[in-house]
Amino acid sequence: MGKQSKKCAGCWGWLLAIIVLAVVVVGVVLLIKHKNGDNSVPDAAPVPGSPGVLTKSYADALKLAMQFFDIQKSGKLVNNTIPWRGDSALKDGSEEKLDLSKGMYDAGDHMKFMFPLAYTATVLSWSILEYGDQLKAAGQLESAQGSLKWITDFLINSHPSPNVLYIQVGDPTLDHKCWDRPEDMTGKRPLTKVDTSAPGSDVAAEAAAAMAAASLVFKSSDSSYSSSLLKHSKDLFKFADENRALYSESIPDVQTYYNSTGYGDELLWAAGWLYHATGDKSYYDYVTGDNGEEFANWGNPTWFSWDNKLAGAQVLLSRVSFFGSKDISNDDTLQKYRSSAEAVMCGLLPKSPSATKSRTKSGLIWVAEWNSLQHPVGSAFLAVLYSDYMLSSRTPKITCHGRHFSPFDLRNFAKSQADYVLGNNPLKTSFLVGYGDEYPQFVHHRGASIPADKKTSCQDGFQYLESTDPNPNIAYGAMVGGPFLNETFIDSRNNSMQTEPSTYNSALIVGLLSGLVTTSSVARSLGQ
Ligand SMILES: *[C@@H]1O[C@H](CO)[C@@H](O)[C@H](O)[C@H]1NC(C)=O
Ligand SMILES: *[C@@H]1O[C@H](CO)[C@@H](O)[C@H](O)[C@H]1NC(C)=O
Ligand SMILES: *[C@@H]1O[C@H](CO)[C@@H](O)[C@H](O)[C@H]1NC(C)=O
Ligand SMILES: *[C@@H]1O[C@H](CO)[C@@H](O)[C@H](O)[C@H]1NC(C)=O
Repeated sequence: MGKQSKKCAGCWGWLLAIIVLAVVVVGVVLLIKHKNGDNSVPDAAPVPGSPGVLTKSYADALKLAMQFFDIQKSGKLVNNTIPWRGDSALKDGSEEKLDLSKGMYDAGDHMKFMFPLAYTATVLSWSILEYGDQLKAAGQLESAQGSLKWITDFLINSHPSPNVLYIQVGDPTLDHKCWDRPEDMTGKRPLTKVDTSAPGSDVAAEAAAAMAAASLVFKSSDSSYSSSLLKHSKDLFKFADENRALYSESIPDVQTYYNSTGYGDELLWAAGWLYHATGDKSYYDYVTGDNGEEFANWGNPTWFSWDNKLAGAQVLLSRVSFFGSKDISNDDTLQKYRSSAEAVMCGLLPKSPSATKSRTKSGLIWVAEWNSLQHPVGSAFLAVLYSDYMLSSRTPKITCHGRHFSPFDLRNFAKSQADYVLGNNPLKTSFLVGYGDEYPQFVHHRGASIPADKKTSCQDGFQYLESTDPNPNIAYGAMVGGPFLNETFIDSRNNSMQTEPSTYNSALIVGLLSGLVTTSSVARSLGQ
């Protein structure tokens, strides 16, 4: 634990949470330890030791990637640094007397979809919690916290009562009939919600996960905001758990864009986050009891994505096994989460006997044609986390069908995926807009494609989609969909499968880069 605290300024909340939960279990003896922990690890303490040397390429990429959140912001902008962006969607939510003006647009369009947006907030929170001091060293911590809060403010306003969550602003059919700048939108922005008559455990539990994770991020800097997030999270989790249903069955229209294929993963993920945020044993019992048996799909690797959080939940719960108190960390069910996380890692490592075949010739994890980079980047983020958990806990190896792999093997895998994204690929092009000499010029993004001084209506903006000129505004930091399996990429604005960026992509690449941005200080201390 001492090592862990050295590693990461953003982890104080976690450390305290872990200590607090130990207290719940073992009582008085550890209570004393808890107090010591409180005294010796104050939230505002300077970070002991530095996070290691910054790797310039990753630091530059991280700074860029962070900018895409600013490009996607809806509402009345504060401290806007994007010259071609301005206020937009100020009346979102007004027909229900709600202020849903904040939050972020999903991708190249102007929809606000809660399911992927909440996932964005959960992943961004996780990055800040684990890699807060790396982000700080790269000068990006404030920006990351600010972007997170832009989403969590929206989440809070989307949850006006315990059993009601607004899950969509805008109608994709109407929205996609237009090609305009967000600042010039005039179309209707209808609202969609889940409640007890049309429940959605997946989307509600994801929002709960996001708010629990974010409550840890803001715990020391804004405790009343943090408490409010936690209250919303608990209520949403209860609503999700007690009204079990897929939102895409309750509201079939959502299937077209963000269909959900299950809610068990989100329930475990949310409970895992609530356990970290509260130390309340009931959340631990939730994931290790019947729900674990029903939903955890032990030992079978899955792909971490906006739809499926199982691999994320397994890594998150492994954290408890790595750093929790002995009596908890030896729990059999917790070990099942950890071995499932290891099965995920074994699938990713290219030399593992159980290595996945879902890879391009030059080694990029490749699972789906649409937005192909989401899976390699999400997987690499989990790999760098797992690698750091191993280093911090002095766990020298994992074993994949008899073969051993070190934390460095996992880190190297994570680097290989990041490097591919940044241009080390057969096309020698970066898929992070603005990074390197070659990057996509025809990003499928309305705001980027229309000159900022041209006011267009819904329809006449389509000339900018169809134009053969590159985008007039560069969507700096956008991570586009990415290559086909055969490693080709068609840089065309109407090729949304490959050239459209998304807000959740940004959370994943920011997470990955924040894990890679400094040489690991923990690795050095192991070598002493
Ligand atoms: C805007 O910038 C000011 C001055 O740097 C800062 O105090 C404030 O927190 C910023 N607001 C947001 C929402 O980022
Ligand atoms: C949405 O997911 C469900 C469950 O996996 C599936 O049965 C359904 O066909 C999907 N809908 C669409 C439009 O893909
Ligand atoms: C690469 O794959 C795409 C998508 O499957 C296909 O359309 C294209 O023709 C392929 N290109 C080559 C050179 O094989
Ligand atoms: C997409 O745009 C390119 C030119 O940028 C054009 O050649 C192609 O036909 C278009 N495809 C579709 C499906 O509209």
